[in-house]
Amino acid sequence: MIKLGIIYGGTSTEHDISEMSAKSVIENLDKEKYEIHELFINRYGKWFECKGDKKEEIYNLIWTLKDLDVAFPVLHGKGGEDGTIQGMLEMLEIPYVGCGVLSSSIGMDKVYTKIIFERAGIPQTPYIYIKKKDDKFIIVNENFDEEEFEIEKILSKLKFPMFVKPSNSGSSVGVKKATNNEELKMAIMNASQFDTKILVEQGVIGKEVECAVLDEDELQVSTVGEIMPAEEFYSFDAKYNIPDSKTIIPAKITESQIEEIRKLALKAFRAIDGKGLSRVDFFIENETNKIYINEINTMPGFTKISMYPKLFEAAGISYSELLDKLIKNALI
Ligand SMILES: Nc1ncnc2c1ncn2[C@@H]1O[C@H](COP(=O)(O)OP(=O)(O)O)[C@@H](O)[C@H]1O
Ligand SMILES: [Mg+2]
Repeated sequence: MIKLGIIYGGTSTEHDISEMSAKSVIENLDKEKYEIHELFINRYGKWFECKGDKKEEIYNLIWTLKDLDVAFPVLHGKGGEDGTIQGMLEMLEIPYVGCGVLSSSIGMDKVYTKIIFERAGIPQTPYIYIKKKDDKFIIVNENFDEEEFEIEKILSKLKFPMFVKPSNSGSSVGVKKATNNEELKMAIMNASQFDTKILVEQGVIGKEVECAVLDEDELQVSTVGEIMPAEEFYSFDAKYNIPDSKTIIPAKITESQIEEIRKLALKAFRAIDGKGLSRVDFFIENETNKIYINEINTMPGFTKISMYPKLFEAAGISYSELLDKLIKNALI
């Protein structure tokens, strides 16, 4: 039996999503193969081991973790998907599922993801990097020099609609669409509640598609799935609260577009020095059919109906098999 620690919950805005993902993972793990240890982090950062209905607070975390053969941090967002827990597991020499410290932290930070993708030559929408410093906004230019914030600087580089996002966030928390100056200012203020680094991006009007990468002996890349958000864009509510958001696998796009996206997904995974798994998200612009990368998620949603497992299911790899592969890869 492999002693497997499923770490979930966490202090990020995606606590609930992590609980949903972990529940699915635990349900679908082969109980003959794994001795499962459920390690729950509450919203305040306290750790518990769950045994049946009982939650026991963990007093010696290092001891508890060191007893595992392998850990699966089914955590999304800050403190889970950003390299911090990965760093702790590295220090304790505990093998773990998924991306390492560097790739996790790049993937979590939208500004730095953009910088790496730029270097890799992966097409993406133009953007402006804003920072909040001492209650004032500043623009950080391409050379990382800090300039005075002026709305005109944004308007001269980007067209409406724009998307404003906290650099470190997930599940669309803090993400707003802006169609005029007023909305833009409000969206920047709003995003600054979640992070001091803010990204303003040119909006793409088109399809939203996703592709899954799995690190086996060789990198496996799935087909492409399409998101049909129930709201104007794929907001938090459209993701989790409105059952009308749909996914279509494979996406209704051409064969050559699918091939192009698969290639770009692999490139993105390599560019961030990915390991284990990632879901790579793209837009396809209606007017031009151009493909733009949106982001890479190093710990994508993992419920049974999430896009990542569904994309591999379409290739004949069941959810349980997928978990086995991920865990096996962590132990190599
Ligand atoms: N540049 C953009 N053009 C069009 N829609 C966008 C753009 N950026 C974000 N969105 C919409 O907002 C959603 C959330 O943004 P995203 O960058 O994926 O953040 P998160 O990491 O929270 O998922 C996307 O799924 C998409 O629907
Ligand atoms: Mg996203």
